[in-house]
Amino acid sequence: MGQLRIRPLHELSDDQFDVVQDIFEQAYPDWLRLSIDELDGGKGSDRIAVAGMFDEEPVGFAAVRVLPRSGWTFLRYFAIAADRRREGLGRRMWTELTEYLAVNVAPRRLLWEAQLPERAAPGSPQHDARSTALAFYESIGGEVLPVHDYVMPTTLGLPAEPMLLMALDPTSPVKDPNGLVKALLSEHYGVERYEV
Ligand SMILES: CC(C)(COP(=O)(O)OP(=O)(O)OC[C@H]1O[C@@H](n2cnc3c(N)ncnc32)[C@H](O)[C@@H]1OP(=O)(O)O)[C@@H](O)C(=O)NCCC(=O)NCCS
Repeated sequence: MGQLRIRPLHELSDDQFDVVQDIFEQAYPDWLRLSIDELDGGKGSDRIAVAGMFDEEPVGFAAVRVLPRSGWTFLRYFAIAADRRREGLGRRMWTELTEYLAVNVAPRRLLWEAQLPERAAPGSPQHDARSTALAFYESIGGEVLPVHDYVMPTTLGLPAEPMLLMALDPTSPVKDPNGLVKALLSEHYGVERYEV
């Protein structure tokens, strides 16, 4: 198999960008998707959106936000093209993404939200997709943070959805989960006051 490389979206051709947009739309329901323009701040920004490329073909999409004060990176979206799943590409793209982030001055310690399977009807496509995502995150070593009743804030225009919070620090288990939640709420969502 060839090599999978990470490339920033602003370096893609229009056709390649359209493929990435399709990958994003196949992977996330409308109500959970922000626009790619919002996700990609361009060169030097703390909002980074990238494609996973095989030669010139996009096969994956990821968007992150650097949380500079906490030294973590928030993974906002991560997807593999629907017709290329279960080939090991997700795992390879994860490895390449963390390398890319480290080289591009973003911490490779990643934090993310995961949808709860039990909030979708058993046997529905949404339930399956959420269970798949959790199986994937578990396979790459993601840790479910012991944070109960976390709800995604609405400050970016997304609905208030209960989520799991997960994280992966390649060097050690997460030491301060509550501090991490605070950093996410403050640095990404702009929320300084909340109930615990
Ligand atoms: C989650 C996703 C990125 C996985 O990508 P992928 O390329 O299919 O994953 P890989 O082939 O690298 O799989 C790596 C491991 O993940 C787990 N996994 C992946 N898909 C799985 C599935 N459908 N069922 C069970 N385990 C699965 C397995 O442990 C697998 O290892 P194995 O193949 O040795 O058993 C992909 O399914 C996707 O894009 N989903 C839609 C977007 C999404 O839900 N992203 C997460 C948002 S919360």
